[in-house]
Amino acid sequence: MTEKGNAAVKDFLAYLEVLIDNRRANPGNPERDVLTKLIQGEENGERLTSKELLHNCIFLLNAWYETTTNLIGNGLVALYEHPDQKDLLLKSPEVIKTAIEEILRYESSNQLGNRITTEAVEIRGISMPAGTLITLCIGAANRDPAEFPDPERFDITRSPNRHIAFAMGIHQCAGMNLARLEGRIVISRLLARFPNYRLTTPPIRGGRARFRGFLNVPASVVILITSS
Ligand code: HEM
Repeated sequence: MTEKGNAAVKDFLAYLEVLIDNRRANPGNPERDVLTKLIQGEENGERLTSKELLHNCIFLLNAWYETTTNLIGNGLVALYEHPDQKDLLLKSPEVIKTAIEEILRYESSNQLGNRITTEAVEIRGISMPAGTLITLCIGAANRDPAEFPDPERFDITRSPNRHIAFAMGIHQCAGMNLARLEGRIVISRLLARFPNYRLTTPPIRGGRARFRGFLNVPASVVILITSS
């Protein structure tokens, strides 16, 4: 398994190197093309080294694409599995803001966070020296009964909803408002257009500990064609 993973990373790096070389030769519009912007760096500013550039591409793809895709997939499945909540959203589309927050809490796309202690600390009786690696379980915190009444209930009107799907502190997700906006737009429009979408077979989970989502969500939709 590790070998397969390492080989995939190597292939991906090789793919990115070709892409970066092409973009260096033919720059795009830096206002629209993230890769061009990263290559050019800020005017009069510090430029990224080749290694930093490659790893920023990988980081952005993971941080940005997969989490938001999973927010949408997880949300559509959760709504389908809770028809009362789906009906509520269809009747009251303005609930979409709290609905997205509840999807983020109930099915957090990123289940784990990492920290390293910078000094010796004691948390609830557990002593940790400086340099301790800690894995935080965002998914569990988001179902903490001390914070969320009836945490296993999927309630798209839940308020307050102080989830930590985007973590907390100075490294809190830099793209959280973009992700929220994308989630609101896609789920609202999809529901408005295909209110009766049906899952055709049970969706299969991706099976990874950190990223929570589905490999695919097979669904059927009814398209209404009206003649004018
Ligand atoms: C549902 C979608 C998303 C979820 C659940 C999510 C979640 C997270 C989490 C948990 C972190 C770690 C924060 C920490 O360790 O304190 C993070 C960091 C980050 N995310 Fe997101 N993210 C999402 C979408 C995005 C998008 C759309 C972008 C970019 C357009 C993005 C860019 C970043 C960046 C740059 C960081 C690193 C911030 C830093 O270290 O200062 N994320 N995200």
